[in-house]
Amino acid sequence: MKRVLITGAASGLGLALAKYYAAQGWAVCIADIQDEAGQAIASQLKQQYNSDCFFQHLDVTNDQEWLQLANDISERWKGLDAIINNAGVASSGDIDALELKDFQWTVDINLMGVVKGCHYFTPLLKDSRGNLINVASMAGLLHISGMSAYNASKAAVVALSETLYSELDPFGVKVSVLCPAFFKTNLTDTMRSTNESGTVIAGKLMDKSTITADDIAKQVYNDSLNGKLMILTHRNEKIFWWVKRFLPSLYFKIMKNTAKKFHDAMARKQA
Ligand SMILES: NC(=O)c1ccc[n+]([C@@H]2O[C@H](COP(=O)([O-])OP(=O)(O)OC[C@H]3O[C@@H](n4cnc5c(N)ncnc54)[C@H](O)[C@@H]3O)[C@@H](O)[C@H]2O)c1
Repeated sequence: MKRVLITGAASGLGLALAKYYAAQGWAVCIADIQDEAGQAIASQLKQQYNSDCFFQHLDVTNDQEWLQLANDISERWKGLDAIINNAGVASSGDIDALELKDFQWTVDINLMGVVKGCHYFTPLLKDSRGNLINVASMAGLLHISGMSAYNASKAAVVALSETLYSELDPFGVKVSVLCPAFFKTNLTDTMRSTNESGTVIAGKLMDKSTITADDIAKQVYNDSLNGKLMILTHRNEKIFWWVKRFLPSLYFKIMKNTAKKFHDAMARKQA
């Protein structure tokens, strides 16, 4: 039986991934700060698929908890076939308005949480020649205004993953990075924004998405096992990323116009 560790698996995409991998016959470790929800899903999957699914409390910013988890997985499973560094949070606000502690919070979870997962679990993945999957975002490739902390954290996850893609190749470890645009989850529940509009707009874009967490989970499973580096799930944003690379002046014109529209709408609201 193959074994996967998924961070942030008590909700949203992590939960969809846990269900999908369990349905494919994998043993799943659900690691999250939400103990009750995490425990409930682990026992449901264990019962449903008769597999060794379990929950472990993990705050991805906490080194001691990572070390404990690495020890526990080594003892329990004697190895690991895949890790999905999925836990993440969102924030929005202009650079001079977003409090630095909220910028730091975003980076600590979205970037350093992923770095820690890679650091502590790469030795096990080298042994199994397994899969390392990092969840970034389209925000790691296309950087809309008013989202600097989130964009910077996710762009760094893309850079980290691209680095490890070649660094770990001699060890047979396959590295993938997921870059989805909006889809419906509970991400806005914990989002830190300097004004309500940021959270409201994100919520609306999520509600509008026709792509679900379940669709993405299935694509992550197939693409990562095929050794694909960049997992892109949303067609229009994929095209826009192409525009950024090949028509950069058009890309920045569109980005500036979008920023101006948002700025003007905010000014009207405050007047
Ligand atoms: N939903 C979207 O539109 C979208 C788009 C692009 C990327 N993403 C990324 O997908 C990933 C999953 O987010 P989601 O949309 O499913 O949101 P979600 O809020 O539903 O799930 C996030 C999970 O991460 C957990 N978490 C948060 N902080 C943690 C910490 N310090 N330690 C351990 N677990 C922690 C939460 O408890 C939760 O279970 C995130 O990395 C997010 O940035 C989401």
